[in-house]
Amino acid sequence: MHRAFDSASYRENGRVIARCLVEALHAHGVVLKHLKVLDFACGPGRVIAELAGATASCTLHGSDIDAQAIAWASQHLSSLAPFSTNTTSAPANYPDDTFDVIYSVSLFTHLDEAAQDEWLAEMRRLLKPGGVLLATTHGRFTIDSCAPAECLHQQRDGIVYQTDRKGRFKVDGLPDFYQTTFHTMDYVRRHWGRYFAIVEHVEGGLNGHQDLVVMRRPALAGAALAD
Ligand SMILES: C[S@@+](CC[C@H](N)C(=O)[O-])C[C@H]1O[C@@H](n2cnc3c(N)ncnc32)[C@H](O)[C@@H]1O
Repeated sequence: MHRAFDSASYRENGRVIARCLVEALHAHGVVLKHLKVLDFACGPGRVIAELAGATASCTLHGSDIDAQAIAWASQHLSSLAPFSTNTTSAPANYPDDTFDVIYSVSLFTHLDEAAQDEWLAEMRRLLKPGGVLLATTHGRFTIDSCAPAECLHQQRDGIVYQTDRKGRFKVDGLPDFYQTTFHTMDYVRRHWGRYFAIVEHVEGGLNGHQDLVVMRRPALAGAALAD
């Protein structure tokens, strides 16, 4: 998502992402007043830093597995949100039905299917009934970085998770549980739809790059979702 090393463009990217998230929430009638909001996989908090101004009456929280990033955010952004470290497996450190909104930018773009399922179920637990989840995927606008064999795999299964990629999306040096994933829209509808009502899937919705998926936890417990 961010491949430069200067702090100005890193922050600018955070601003753009925050704007995309706020616009998507507004488009679906979410009024950002007095809500509890979780940035799950917040890294060092660049999105929270930019969102805080637009959500002054909301309570923001951030969580990530990267203890160093969380230590930095806790030191520099503690006036905006409490930050917490989670492990690679659920549960995260919050009770059931806590949040009105959860967003996860560039997380599901890096997890395998089993980990995605685990965290989707966890986010469903953490959201209040009727709460909204925003998550991003690598879709059509990033597909040019998919090798032909990967694309075939993605078209066949709806999802491809690679641990041995090269080139622009290479993430070697990082653990096998954190690599690169591509989804089709149909996969998201069928598979993620088992956890949430898929409200909208905006191709390139994150600044013309990653897709932005807007989901809602059904208000009624046990309500049927996807086919
Ligand atoms: C590409 S970065 C995006 C960070 C942040 N969302 C942003 O846009 O600035 C992905 C983040 O996911 C975090 N991550 C990976 N697996 C995770 C997990 N199971 N739970 C929470 N965070 C995770 C990484 O530590 C990293 O900070």
